[in-house]
Amino acid sequence: MPHYRSVGEIPRKRHTQFRRPDGGLYAEELMGVEGFSSDSALLYHRNLPTAIVNAETVADHGRDTAPNLPLKPRHFRTQDLKWEDVDTVDAVTGRRLLFANADVAICFVTASAPSPLYRNAFGDELLYVQAGAAVVETIYGALPVAAGDYVVLPTSTTYRVVPSPGVGARQDAGAGVPQDEVRLLVLEATGHVGPPRRYLAARGQFLEHAPYCERDLRAPAQPLIAEDATDVPVLVRHRAGLTRFTYAHHPFDVVGWDGCLYPWAFNIRDFEPITGRIHQPPPVHQTFEGPNFVVCSFCPRKVDYHPLAVPVPYNHANVDSDELMFYVGGNYEARKGSGIGLGSMSLHPSGCTHGPQPGAVEASLGTDYFDETAVMVDTFRPLQLAAAAQECEDPSYAWSWSKGGLNQN
Ligand SMILES: [Fe+2]
Repeated sequence: MPHYRSVGEIPRKRHTQFRRPDGGLYAEELMGVEGFSSDSALLYHRNLPTAIVNAETVADHGRDTAPNLPLKPRHFRTQDLKWEDVDTVDAVTGRRLLFANADVAICFVTASAPSPLYRNAFGDELLYVQAGAAVVETIYGALPVAAGDYVVLPTSTTYRVVPSPGVGARQDAGAGVPQDEVRLLVLEATGHVGPPRRYLAARGQFLEHAPYCERDLRAPAQPLIAEDATDVPVLVRHRAGLTRFTYAHHPFDVVGWDGCLYPWAFNIRDFEPITGRIHQPPPVHQTFEGPNFVVCSFCPRKVDYHPLAVPVPYNHANVDSDELMFYVGGNYEARKGSGIGLGSMSLHPSGCTHGPQPGAVEASLGTDYFDETAVMVDTFRPLQLAAAAQECEDPSYAWSWSKGGLNQN
């Protein structure tokens, strides 16, 4: 994030002596992206953040993917995904890869147990809380999150997710989910994720036409210091796979930090939809940009108000992108009759034209409000399918516009 923040205790001048109550020096750590040439944060640890006592390779299961063949529109039901022992599933080791390309891995998890300490050294992670609540504990502090929250975790931020029923101010979305579960869409980027550049001033402030701004963002407000422990495992995802480090001390020992690089959260209900007299194109819903992908939020909104407006989208060919839509709330008018429900994901790849289901255009005429919430990920390179996607696929979706088809499987 480009916005300066200061939390906890820090010395008045950077890179100067800063002493603990026992007289020893705090250990200063710079977290900086793009090789000291972009945003950074300075963190002050009680113990050396470099002190590791062991490193071991960890098997990385379920990461194989296959091409989207035959090419066709697809529908997946994350609500049908199964985990073996649901009480022990956590938001890091339990995440199941659904889709991936060279730019982003897209995973889903229904977590009930606290995750191990973890960081992704490959790129930023973007979590979307479909339902439930959790505390995302990080070296910068804690972020309570609940349904509708996006969470941006900068590359190499050590964190863990603790499902925590009752946290977060907004518990209304996600009804029907067991109290101790949190359902997360997880994007593992291979670079940095942030607000669309066109919504930012040269120095990073949100512009007036942006659909959200600084007041909508949340970030850690105080340090999070764990009781000290020795030999603490931290799982690290990197280009080659997974490694488990063992740290001499617990990494949550930061007494203060400042800078412009830190985890932050934004709730989808704080996204202010941009509407018009006639249908507005998907970029008005854009919320984040990442390396070769964008994330858009489709929120409840007044729809097109031209007297002859057609509120649902026109048929469209995404010439340069694969379009993954995750349906998380309300009723998605354009998809009525397709079998899509809450928790579904549709994948409309480049090479196909897609649009409203038969009858949806006529049915939408005269509508002035859509009660729908969906998160869209558009990737500029084709997505491949992982085993978990194939496991929860509805094979009939591709033929739902023609009400039949030669091939019903
Ligand atoms: Fe579309």
